[in-house]
Order: sequence, then structure tokens, then C-alpha cells
Amino acid sequence: MRRPFIAGNWKMNLDRASAVALAEELAEQAKRVDGVDLAICPPSVYLDAVAKAIAGSRVALGAQNMYHEGNGAFTGEISAAMLCDLGCKYVILGHSERRHVLGETDEAINKKVHAALDAGLAPIVCVGELLSERESGQTMDVIGRQFEGSLAGISAEQMATIVIAYEPVWAIGTGRVATPQQAEEVHLDLRKVIQQRYNESVAESVRIQYGGSVKPENAADLLGQPDIDGALVGGASLKADAFMGIVAGSKG
Ligand code: PGA
Repeated sequence: MRRPFIAGNWKMNLDRASAVALAEELAEQAKRVDGVDLAICPPSVYLDAVAKAIAGSRVALGAQNMYHEGNGAFTGEISAAMLCDLGCKYVILGHSERRHVLGETDEAINKKVHAALDAGLAPIVCVGELLSERESGQTMDVIGRQFEGSLAGISAEQMATIVIAYEPVWAIGTGRVATPQQAEEVHLDLRKVIQQRYNESVAESVRIQYGGSVKPENAADLLGQPDIDGALVGGASLKADAFMGIVAGSKG
């Protein structure tokens, strides 16, 4: 049985005081939920402050990105060990904004996935198609390529610790959510890809989150699908009540 996992991706939002206040509020509200894993991924400059705000709570800490090298002359970058040092458990890798705005390739993401795993972080690896790719019937080709490229050289044992986030690019921050059927179709196909590459037990254990305009109003329908194991939430994760409303929806 896969345990639902709801993660908030705060992106480049909030300031220090509001990040801490939101984290404290979530830590408090999380006392009332059970049976679901929770994480928040603040901007890296606020990781330390947020870590203190959620210390001892049910909310785990995640980062939005990292660099694959261990240390050295890489101006502006942050290593996996540094994220661990701050108390991170998760790191989002290959988010579509990093792929499409910052030009990250599957090869670069793959190096990060290996470095994250080596350091003991659990990567949340994002995949998803553009609207033009969906409309031209290439959704699974694109996602399959991103999966194979981002996860090259990953063992079955490692795969079981990775979280996949299916985020159709056309649904991110647009208010245009995939229907539960559209999302479930891709999640099921992704699980088949995992099964073919690894085996049934790995495919059954990997959690696949859906991301793209998830809100309290649509969460229960999406999360009620058999192969949707949680959500990666952007905009709605910036308000405690909205985020916890989504968490409530994860119980079907
Ligand atoms: P959104 O973002 O919920 O604001 O659409 C999701 C994401 O980018 O992870």
C-alpha cells in the first residue's frame, strides 16, 4: 500500500517572515492529520529558518533544486550534502520550470538524481509534456524519454526510494487542471514503464504524485485515482488552509 505524499513547492515566493509563519502554521495543523506524508520545499535561502519552524513536526523539509558536484568552484550552486546539513529529506529535481526556463537537460537531471541518492536525499523527479506535445499525441513518448534520461543508471533498490511527479506543463500555474482520467492514464502508463524496466514490486511501491493546479476543490477527485499517490502543489501550497485542504482530500 502506497502512503499518500503531499509536497508543497513554494517556488520563488514569500519572504523570511512569511515563510516561517506559514511553516509554523502547517506544523500546527499537521498535528491533526494522519496516514499521509507531508513536505514543504521553500526557497533555499529560507531552508534553515523553515527547518527550525517545523522541527519535531510531521512536516518534512525539501529543496527545490541542487547541483550534482560535491563541492568546489561552482558559484551560486548548492550541494546535496549542504541540503542534508540543513535537514532536508527531499529534493525536487527536473521541475518543468528548470527544464524549460533554465534549460536543464535530462542528462544534467540524471547527475543530480545520482548525487542526491548518494547523499541520502529522496529525489522528487518531475516529468511532464507540453500542450503541443499532448495535442500531437506525444505525451508518453516525451514522458518515457524524460523518465529514461533522468533515471539512467538507477538501480531497482534506488528506484524504490524515488518519488515521481507527473506534472503536465500546460496545467502548471494555469488553473487548467488535468482531468482525473487524463492524469490517471499517464500515471498508469508510467507505472508500466517502471514495471518493464524494473519489476512489479518496484512499480507497485514507487509513489507517483500529480502536479498542476491542484487545489482543495479538485484534490479528492485526483487523489482518489488508483495510481495517483499524492500531489506536488505550487500556488495552493502558499496558504496553509489550501494546502491542508488538499491534504484532507488525499484520504479519498
Ligand atoms: P501549481 O504548480 O500547483 O501552481 O500549478 C505545481 C508545480 O509546479 O509543482
